[in-house]
Amino acid sequence: MNDKQRILAVKDLSKTFSNDSVQQHVLKNLNLAIYKGDFTVIMGNSGSGKSTLLYALSGMDRPTLGTITYYTGEEEGKETEISTFSNDRLAVFRREHVGFVFQQNYLNDSMSALDNIMVCGLLRHSNRRKLAEKAKELLTSVEIGESDWKKFPTQLSGGQQQRVAVVRGVINSPEVLFADEPTGALNSQNTENVLNILSDLNNEGQSIVMVTHTVKAAERGNRIIYLADGVISDEIDIGPYAGNYKDETNPRLDEARARHAKLKEFLQDMGW
Ligand SMILES: Nc1ncnc2c1ncn2[C@@H]1O[C@H](COP(=O)(O)OP(=O)(O)OP(=O)(O)O)[C@@H](O)[C@H]1O
Ligand SMILES: [Mg+2]
Repeated sequence: MNDKQRILAVKDLSKTFSNDSVQQHVLKNLNLAIYKGDFTVIMGNSGSGKSTLLYALSGMDRPTLGTITYYTGEEEGKETEISTFSNDRLAVFRREHVGFVFQQNYLNDSMSALDNIMVCGLLRHSNRRKLAEKAKELLTSVEIGESDWKKFPTQLSGGQQQRVAVVRGVINSPEVLFADEPTGALNSQNTENVLNILSDLNNEGQSIVMVTHTVKAAERGNRIIYLADGVISDEIDIGPYAGNYKDETNPRLDEARARHAKLKEFLQDMGW
């Protein structure tokens, strides 16, 4: 039994794309729950439906069939079924409950780093001064210093841009942060930085659902789900991140090595 609190559950989720007269069944009767505090990772081959699943879970797109229920809100036990929401209602729902980070940062190039975050936050927060404080605090926590706050995205490095995008993703304190290959476009140092930020956020209680192609990123999660041809093949619990398994100075080196081995074995079983 899982005694963690459910944030959302999908039931019999299917997604079919119709191109010309050809129907492609991308997600097939999928059942899945996401739990509070987890860093859930979704892996699988290219084309297996990972992004499609992430978009359905997060209310970015609607499923063809099935339900997506969120167990969120101030009221205890409140259930919100979003799969039939209109576009407008979905947009409001997303703003209030979820955050996103993508492979490309999708920052608005005509606004400063700070304003990119403020704009997202202002749709929810009425107190501009408090919001700016929170944005600056978060930027500082991802090592974007004051001298960079007024810069436009094109004046920042790729790694800095993605850190700004992560801050934007969490500015509204979402119940879940969804990330689709958030380090896919970054070099190894920036990958490490962004992964550290995600780990820190998760340690502070942020629930995360991340799609990735790399073991290095997947290792940050505690629950790894493997998707093949639109169905969940299997999943594994490897426990919370225990630091770098290659770092001899890591005080939790044994634990880190054990979870790395467990993940590798799982992926091997999945035909990775
Ligand atoms: N909007 C769309 N219209 C038509 N087909 C789509 C659409 N979005 C995705 N597909 C198809 O659905 C399948 C799954 O796509 P998806 O983007 O979910 O894969 P993925 O697992 O995220 O792959 P990758 O690892 O390459 O990002 C692909 O065959 C893709 O062509
Ligand atoms: Mg994808």
